[in-house]
Amino acid sequence: MSSPCKGELANSPMEYGAKLDEYRDWFSETGDGGDEERRANYAALSSRYYDLATIFYEVGWGRSFHFAPLHRKLGRKGSLRHYERRFAEVTGLAEGVVALDLGCGVGGPLIHLAQTTGADIIGINNNSFQVRRGTRYLEKAELEGRCRFVLADFMELPFEDNTIDAIYSIDAIPHAPDKEALFRELFRVLRPGGRIACSDWCVTETFDAGKAEHRALLRKLEMGNGLPCTASCLQVKQALGNSGFEILEFRDLAREEETGWPWYEPLSHRPGVPVDLIKDPRVRGWINGVLRGLERLRLVPRGTSFVHDMLGRGAEALVKAGQMGIFTPLVFFVVRKPDNSCSNPAEESRQNGGT
Ligand SMILES: C[S@@+](CC[C@H](N)C(=O)[O-])C[C@H]1O[C@@H](n2cnc3c(N)ncnc32)[C@H](O)[C@@H]1O
Repeated sequence: MSSPCKGELANSPMEYGAKLDEYRDWFSETGDGGDEERRANYAALSSRYYDLATIFYEVGWGRSFHFAPLHRKLGRKGSLRHYERRFAEVTGLAEGVVALDLGCGVGGPLIHLAQTTGADIIGINNNSFQVRRGTRYLEKAELEGRCRFVLADFMELPFEDNTIDAIYSIDAIPHAPDKEALFRELFRVLRPGGRIACSDWCVTETFDAGKAEHRALLRKLEMGNGLPCTASCLQVKQALGNSGFEILEFRDLAREEETGWPWYEPLSHRPGVPVDLIKDPRVRGWINGVLRGLERLRLVPRGTSFVHDMLGRGAEALVKAGQMGIFTPLVFFVVRKPDNSCSNPAEESRQNGGT
Protein backbone atom coordinates (compact mmCIF):
# COMPACT_ATOMS: atom_id res chain seq x y z
CA MET A 1 0.00 0.00 0.00
CA SER A 2 1.22 3.50 -0.71
CA SER A 3 1.66 5.85 2.22
CA PRO A 4 -0.67 8.72 1.40
CA CYS A 5 -0.34 10.16 4.89
CA LYS A 6 3.11 11.61 4.26
CA GLY A 7 1.80 14.13 1.73
CA GLU A 8 -1.35 14.51 3.77
CA LEU A 9 0.57 15.71 6.81
CA ALA A 10 1.55 18.88 5.02
CA ASN A 11 -1.09 21.57 5.46
CA SER A 12 -3.34 21.49 2.44
CA PRO A 13 -4.05 24.85 0.85
CA MET A 14 -7.00 23.38 -1.09
CA GLU A 15 -10.26 25.21 -0.69
CA TYR A 16 -13.36 23.62 0.84
CA GLY A 17 -15.17 22.98 -2.46
CA ALA A 18 -12.14 21.31 -4.06
CA LYS A 19 -11.70 19.08 -0.99
CA LEU A 20 -15.33 18.05 -1.31
CA ASP A 21 -14.91 17.23 -5.03
CA GLU A 22 -11.98 14.97 -4.18
CA TYR A 23 -13.88 13.33 -1.32
CA ARG A 24 -16.99 12.67 -3.45
CA ASP A 25 -14.87 11.04 -6.12
CA TRP A 26 -13.76 8.32 -3.68
CA PHE A 27 -17.38 7.30 -3.28
CA SER A 28 -18.61 7.69 -6.84
CA GLU A 29 -18.91 4.71 -9.15
CA THR A 30 -17.66 6.80 -12.08
CA GLY A 31 -14.75 8.52 -10.30
CA ASP A 32 -12.02 6.92 -8.21
CA GLY A 33 -14.62 5.16 -6.07
CA GLY A 34 -13.80 1.56 -5.24
CA ASP A 35 -12.87 -0.43 -2.14
CA GLU A 36 -9.18 -0.70 -3.07
CA GLU A 37 -8.93 2.98 -3.90
CA ARG A 38 -10.50 3.99 -0.59
CA ARG A 39 -8.23 1.69 1.40
CA ALA A 40 -5.12 2.89 -0.43
CA ASN A 41 -6.10 6.52 0.27
CA TYR A 42 -7.44 5.98 3.79
CA ALA A 43 -5.40 8.78 5.40
CA ALA A 44 -6.24 11.43 2.81
CA LEU A 45 -9.85 10.24 2.77
CA SER A 46 -10.37 10.65 6.53
CA SER A 47 -8.44 13.90 6.62
CA ARG A 48 -10.52 15.42 3.80
CA TYR A 49 -13.65 14.27 5.62
CA TYR A 50 -12.63 16.05 8.86
CA ASP A 51 -11.60 19.17 6.93
CA LEU A 52 -15.20 19.25 5.72
CA ALA A 53 -17.05 18.02 8.81
CA THR A 54 -15.24 19.23 11.94
CA ILE A 55 -17.18 22.46 12.37
CA PHE A 56 -20.49 20.60 11.95
CA TYR A 57 -19.30 18.08 14.58
CA GLU A 58 -18.35 20.76 17.08
CA VAL A 59 -21.71 22.47 16.63
CA GLY A 60 -23.66 19.20 16.88
CA TRP A 61 -21.60 17.14 19.36
CA GLY A 62 -19.31 19.51 21.25
CA ARG A 63 -15.65 18.49 21.59
CA SER A 64 -16.12 14.75 22.17
CA PHE A 65 -16.93 13.12 18.83
CA HIS A 66 -17.95 9.62 19.84
CA PHE A 67 -20.80 7.26 20.66
CA ALA A 68 -21.31 5.72 24.10
CA PRO A 69 -23.74 3.46 25.92
CA LEU A 70 -26.43 6.03 26.79
CA HIS A 71 -27.66 5.91 30.37
CA ARG A 72 -31.00 7.63 30.88
CA LYS A 73 -30.03 8.77 34.37
CA LEU A 74 -26.76 10.36 33.17
CA GLY A 75 -28.11 12.07 30.05
CA ARG A 76 -26.16 12.25 26.78
CA LYS A 77 -23.20 14.39 27.91
CA GLY A 78 -22.92 12.53 31.22
CA SER A 79 -22.92 9.19 29.37
CA LEU A 80 -20.07 10.33 27.08
CA ARG A 81 -17.99 11.39 30.11
CA HIS A 82 -18.82 8.13 31.92
CA TYR A 83 -17.70 6.10 28.90
CA GLU A 84 -14.45 8.11 28.57
CA ARG A 85 -13.59 7.37 32.22
CA ARG A 86 -13.96 3.67 31.52
CA PHE A 87 -10.96 3.86 29.11
CA ALA A 88 -8.89 5.50 31.84
CA GLU A 89 -9.80 2.84 34.40
CA VAL A 90 -9.09 -0.20 32.25
CA THR A 91 -5.78 1.12 30.88
CA GLY A 92 -4.57 2.40 34.29
CA LEU A 93 -4.20 6.11 33.43
CA ALA A 94 -2.62 7.93 36.40
CA GLU A 95 0.08 10.47 37.22
CA GLY A 96 3.36 9.56 35.51
CA VAL A 97 1.74 7.27 32.92
CA VAL A 98 2.50 8.17 29.27
CA ALA A 99 -0.50 7.35 27.11
CA LEU A 100 -1.60 7.77 23.50
CA ASP A 101 -5.09 8.89 22.46
CA LEU A 102 -5.31 7.49 18.93
CA GLY A 103 -7.38 9.63 16.59
CA CYS A 104 -7.99 12.26 19.28
CA GLY A 105 -10.30 14.66 17.40
CA VAL A 106 -10.11 18.17 18.88
CA GLY A 107 -9.23 16.68 22.26
CA GLY A 108 -12.52 16.47 24.21
CA PRO A 109 -11.76 13.05 25.79
CA LEU A 110 -8.00 13.79 26.04
CA ILE A 111 -8.52 16.98 28.06
CA HIS A 112 -11.13 15.33 30.28
CA LEU A 113 -8.91 12.31 31.05
CA ALA A 114 -5.72 14.35 31.50
CA GLN A 115 -7.56 16.54 34.03
CA THR A 116 -9.14 13.67 35.94
CA THR A 117 -6.21 11.19 35.99
CA GLY A 118 -3.03 13.31 35.88
CA ALA A 119 -1.63 11.16 33.02
CA ASP A 120 0.62 12.61 30.29
CA ILE A 121 -1.45 12.10 27.15
CA ILE A 122 -0.26 12.45 23.56
CA GLY A 123 -3.06 12.93 21.06
CA ILE A 124 -2.42 11.38 17.64
CA ASN A 125 -4.30 12.85 14.73
CA ASN A 126 -3.55 13.08 11.00
CA ASN A 127 -5.87 16.05 10.41
CA SER A 128 -4.00 19.32 10.74
CA PHE A 129 -7.15 21.44 11.11
CA GLN A 130 -8.19 19.43 14.20
CA VAL A 131 -4.65 19.46 15.59
CA ARG A 132 -4.61 23.26 15.41
CA ARG A 133 -8.01 23.57 17.11
CA GLY A 134 -7.15 20.93 19.74
CA THR A 135 -3.85 22.63 20.57
CA ARG A 136 -5.75 25.84 21.31
CA TYR A 137 -8.18 23.98 23.61
CA LEU A 138 -5.23 22.30 25.37
CA GLU A 139 -3.61 25.67 26.01
CA LYS A 140 -6.88 27.07 27.34
CA ALA A 141 -7.05 24.11 29.75
CA GLU A 142 -3.40 24.83 30.75
CA LEU A 143 -2.36 21.28 29.95
CA GLU A 144 0.29 22.00 27.32
CA GLY A 145 3.11 21.20 29.79
CA ARG A 146 1.91 17.62 30.20
CA CYS A 147 -0.03 16.83 27.02
CA ARG A 148 0.41 17.50 23.31
CA PHE A 149 -1.00 16.76 19.89
CA VAL A 150 1.15 15.01 17.30
CA LEU A 151 0.23 15.25 13.63
CA ALA A 152 0.75 11.63 12.59
CA ASP A 153 -0.87 8.58 11.06
CA PHE A 154 -1.72 5.93 13.65
CA MET A 155 -0.71 3.25 11.12
CA GLU A 156 2.91 4.53 11.34
CA LEU A 157 3.50 5.92 14.81
CA PRO A 158 6.55 8.17 15.36
CA PHE A 159 7.66 6.38 18.57
CA GLU A 160 10.36 3.88 19.50
CA ASP A 161 9.48 0.25 20.28
CA ASN A 162 8.19 -0.53 23.82
CA THR A 163 8.01 3.09 24.97
CA ILE A 164 4.31 3.84 25.55
CA ASP A 165 2.60 2.83 28.83
CA ALA A 166 -1.02 2.77 27.67
CA ILE A 167 -3.15 3.46 24.58
CA TYR A 168 -6.82 4.24 24.18
CA SER A 169 -8.93 5.11 21.16
CA ILE A 170 -12.57 6.11 20.91
CA ASP A 171 -14.32 5.87 17.52
CA ALA A 172 -11.12 6.49 15.52
CA ILE A 173 -9.88 3.04 14.47
CA PRO A 174 -12.89 2.53 12.15
CA HIS A 175 -10.76 4.77 9.86
CA ALA A 176 -7.96 2.16 9.71
CA PRO A 177 -7.74 0.35 6.35
CA ASP A 178 -6.27 -2.84 7.85
CA LYS A 179 -6.92 -3.76 11.49
CA GLU A 180 -4.16 -6.32 11.82
CA ALA A 181 -1.53 -3.89 10.49
CA LEU A 182 -2.79 -1.28 12.98
CA PHE A 183 -2.68 -3.68 15.95
CA ARG A 184 0.86 -4.79 15.07
CA GLU A 185 1.93 -1.15 15.05
CA LEU A 186 0.33 -0.60 18.47
CA PHE A 187 1.99 -3.77 19.78
CA ARG A 188 5.34 -2.41 18.63
CA VAL A 189 5.18 0.88 20.55
CA LEU A 190 3.44 -0.41 23.70
CA ARG A 191 5.64 -1.49 26.61
CA PRO A 192 5.31 -5.13 27.75
CA GLY A 193 2.47 -5.40 30.27
CA GLY A 194 0.82 -2.24 28.86
CA ARG A 195 -2.87 -2.16 28.00
CA ILE A 196 -4.96 -0.85 25.13
CA ALA A 197 -8.69 -0.06 25.18
CA CYS A 198 -10.67 0.84 22.08
CA SER A 199 -14.21 1.47 20.93
CA ASP A 200 -14.61 0.30 17.34
CA TRP A 201 -17.33 0.29 14.67
CA CYS A 202 -18.17 -3.09 13.10
CA VAL A 203 -20.76 -4.92 11.08
CA THR A 204 -22.41 -7.69 13.09
CA GLU A 205 -23.08 -11.30 12.07
CA THR A 206 -26.55 -10.15 10.93
CA PHE A 207 -24.95 -8.11 8.14
CA ASP A 208 -25.28 -9.98 4.85
CA ALA A 209 -22.92 -8.78 2.10
CA GLY A 210 -25.09 -10.69 -0.38
CA LYS A 211 -28.01 -8.30 0.27
CA ALA A 212 -28.02 -5.15 -1.86
CA GLU A 213 -29.92 -3.24 0.85
CA HIS A 214 -27.24 -4.00 3.48
CA ARG A 215 -24.43 -3.07 1.11
CA ALA A 216 -26.09 0.21 0.07
CA LEU A 217 -26.73 1.19 3.69
CA LEU A 218 -23.13 0.46 4.65
CA ARG A 219 -21.81 2.51 1.72
CA LYS A 220 -23.99 5.47 2.77
CA LEU A 221 -22.78 5.10 6.36
CA GLU A 222 -19.13 4.97 5.24
CA MET A 223 -19.46 8.02 2.98
CA GLY A 224 -21.22 10.01 5.71
CA ASN A 225 -18.47 9.17 8.21
CA GLY A 226 -15.20 9.19 6.24
CA LEU A 227 -14.55 5.43 6.41
CA PRO A 228 -12.59 3.42 3.83
CA CYS A 229 -14.18 0.07 4.82
CA THR A 230 -15.84 -1.67 7.79
CA ALA A 231 -14.62 -4.88 9.43
CA SER A 232 -16.82 -7.43 11.19
CA CYS A 233 -16.61 -8.02 14.97
CA LEU A 234 -15.07 -11.42 14.28
CA GLN A 235 -12.39 -9.99 11.99
CA VAL A 236 -11.38 -7.44 14.64
CA LYS A 237 -11.12 -10.10 17.34
CA GLN A 238 -9.06 -12.35 15.08
CA ALA A 239 -6.76 -9.46 14.13
CA LEU A 240 -6.11 -8.76 17.84
CA GLY A 241 -5.21 -12.39 18.51
CA ASN A 242 -2.95 -12.54 15.42
CA SER A 243 -1.07 -9.44 16.58
CA GLY A 244 0.15 -11.08 19.80
CA PHE A 245 -2.18 -9.46 22.35
CA GLU A 246 -3.84 -11.15 25.29
CA ILE A 247 -7.55 -10.28 24.99
CA LEU A 248 -8.95 -9.26 28.41
CA GLU A 249 -12.35 -8.06 27.26
CA PHE A 250 -14.15 -8.02 23.90
CA ARG A 251 -17.82 -7.04 23.90
CA ASP A 252 -20.48 -5.42 21.77
CA LEU A 253 -21.88 -2.99 24.34
CA ALA A 254 -24.77 -2.11 22.02
CA ARG A 255 -26.08 -5.61 22.62
CA GLU A 256 -24.76 -6.45 26.05
CA GLU A 257 -25.49 -3.38 28.14
CA GLU A 258 -29.06 -2.29 28.79
CA THR A 259 -28.80 1.43 29.54
CA GLY A 260 -32.25 2.78 28.74
CA TRP A 261 -31.52 4.46 25.40
CA PRO A 262 -30.10 2.98 22.18
CA TRP A 263 -26.74 4.44 21.12
CA TYR A 264 -28.33 6.11 18.05
CA GLU A 265 -30.85 8.06 20.15
CA PRO A 266 -29.09 11.44 19.62
CA LEU A 267 -29.23 10.95 15.83
CA SER A 268 -32.79 9.75 15.48
CA HIS A 269 -35.78 11.91 14.74
CA ARG A 270 -38.60 11.28 17.22
CA PRO A 271 -41.84 12.56 15.67
CA GLY A 272 -43.52 15.18 17.88
CA VAL A 273 -40.36 16.09 19.83
CA PRO A 274 -39.68 19.78 18.94
CA VAL A 275 -35.91 19.69 19.49
CA ASP A 276 -35.66 16.72 17.07
CA LEU A 277 -37.16 18.73 14.20
CA ILE A 278 -33.62 19.61 13.12
CA LYS A 279 -33.10 15.90 12.27
CA ASP A 280 -36.27 15.64 10.17
CA PRO A 281 -35.24 15.09 6.52
CA ARG A 282 -37.71 17.82 5.42
CA VAL A 283 -36.15 20.34 7.79
CA ARG A 284 -32.72 19.25 6.56
CA GLY A 285 -33.94 20.06 3.03
CA TRP A 286 -34.99 23.58 4.10
CA ILE A 287 -31.67 24.18 5.85
CA ASN A 288 -29.88 22.99 2.70
CA GLY A 289 -31.88 25.51 0.66
CA VAL A 290 -30.73 28.29 2.99
CA LEU A 291 -27.12 27.07 2.83
CA ARG A 292 -27.26 26.98 -0.99
CA GLY A 293 -28.42 30.60 -0.95
CA LEU A 294 -25.56 31.52 1.37
CA GLU A 295 -23.14 29.71 -0.97
CA ARG A 296 -24.41 31.79 -3.90
CA LEU A 297 -23.85 34.93 -1.84
CA ARG A 298 -20.37 33.58 -0.95
CA LEU A 299 -21.16 33.86 2.74
CA VAL A 300 -20.27 30.17 3.29
CA PRO A 301 -17.85 28.04 1.20
CA ARG A 302 -19.03 26.16 -1.89
CA GLY A 303 -20.03 22.64 -0.84
CA THR A 304 -21.37 23.52 2.64
CA SER A 305 -24.94 22.46 1.77
CA PHE A 306 -23.72 19.17 0.24
CA VAL A 307 -21.67 18.35 3.35
CA HIS A 308 -24.61 19.19 5.61
CA ASP A 309 -26.82 16.84 3.58
CA MET A 310 -24.16 14.09 3.41
CA LEU A 311 -23.74 14.14 7.20
CA GLY A 312 -27.52 13.97 7.64
CA ARG A 313 -27.72 10.97 5.30
CA GLY A 314 -24.80 9.32 7.11
CA ALA A 315 -26.64 9.80 10.42
CA GLU A 316 -29.82 8.30 8.93
CA ALA A 317 -27.82 5.29 7.74
CA LEU A 318 -26.32 4.84 11.23
CA VAL A 319 -29.77 4.87 12.83
CA LYS A 320 -31.23 2.44 10.30
CA ALA A 321 -28.25 0.06 10.46
CA GLY A 322 -28.46 0.19 14.27
CA GLN A 323 -32.18 -0.54 14.26
CA MET A 324 -31.66 -3.45 11.84
CA GLY A 325 -28.88 -4.80 14.08
CA ILE A 326 -26.42 -5.08 11.18
CA PHE A 327 -23.96 -2.56 12.63
CA THR A 328 -22.57 -1.51 16.02
CA PRO A 329 -20.30 1.42 16.97
CA LEU A 330 -19.77 0.00 20.47
CA VAL A 331 -17.32 -2.87 20.11
CA PHE A 332 -15.33 -2.31 23.30
CA PHE A 333 -12.13 -4.24 23.84
CA VAL A 334 -9.24 -4.27 26.29
CA VAL A 335 -6.00 -6.07 25.42
CA ARG A 336 -2.64 -6.49 27.09
CA LYS A 337 0.84 -6.93 25.65
CA PRO A 338 2.35 -9.97 27.40
CA ASP A 339 5.20 -9.25 29.86
CA ASN A 340 7.74 -11.38 28.03
CA SER A 341 7.21 -9.84 24.58
CA CYS A 342 9.58 -7.03 23.75
CA SER A 343 9.55 -7.07 20.00
CA ASN A 344 7.10 -6.92 17.18
CA PRO A 345 5.73 -10.40 16.30
CA ALA A 346 5.78 -9.41 12.60
CA GLU A 347 9.49 -8.66 12.89
CA GLU A 348 10.07 -11.88 14.87
CA SER A 349 8.25 -13.88 12.24
CA ARG A 350 10.32 -12.25 9.45
CA GLN A 351 13.53 -13.04 11.34
CA ASN A 352 12.41 -16.65 11.76
CA GLY A 353 11.87 -16.92 8.02
CA GLY A 354 8.05 -16.53 8.15
CA THR A 355 6.05 -14.35 5.82
C1 LIG B 1 -14.83 10.21 15.15
S1 LIG B 1 -13.36 11.12 15.44
C2 LIG B 1 -13.09 10.68 17.15
C3 LIG B 1 -12.29 11.72 17.86
C4 LIG B 1 -12.03 11.50 19.33
N1 LIG B 1 -11.54 10.18 19.61
C5 LIG B 1 -13.24 11.83 20.15
O1 LIG B 1 -13.81 10.89 20.69
O2 LIG B 1 -13.58 13.01 20.25
C6 LIG B 1 -12.04 10.18 14.61
C7 LIG B 1 -10.69 10.81 14.70
O3 LIG B 1 -9.69 9.93 14.16
C8 LIG B 1 -8.75 10.69 13.41
N2 LIG B 1 -8.09 9.81 12.43
C9 LIG B 1 -8.67 9.15 11.40
N3 LIG B 1 -7.74 8.44 10.71
C10 LIG B 1 -6.56 8.65 11.33
C11 LIG B 1 -5.23 8.19 11.08
N4 LIG B 1 -4.93 7.36 10.06
N5 LIG B 1 -4.25 8.59 11.92
C12 LIG B 1 -4.51 9.45 12.95
N6 LIG B 1 -5.76 9.91 13.23
C13 LIG B 1 -6.78 9.52 12.43
C14 LIG B 1 -9.60 11.78 12.78
O4 LIG B 1 -8.84 12.85 12.30
C15 LIG B 1 -10.51 12.13 13.96
O5 LIG B 1 -9.86 13.02 14.80
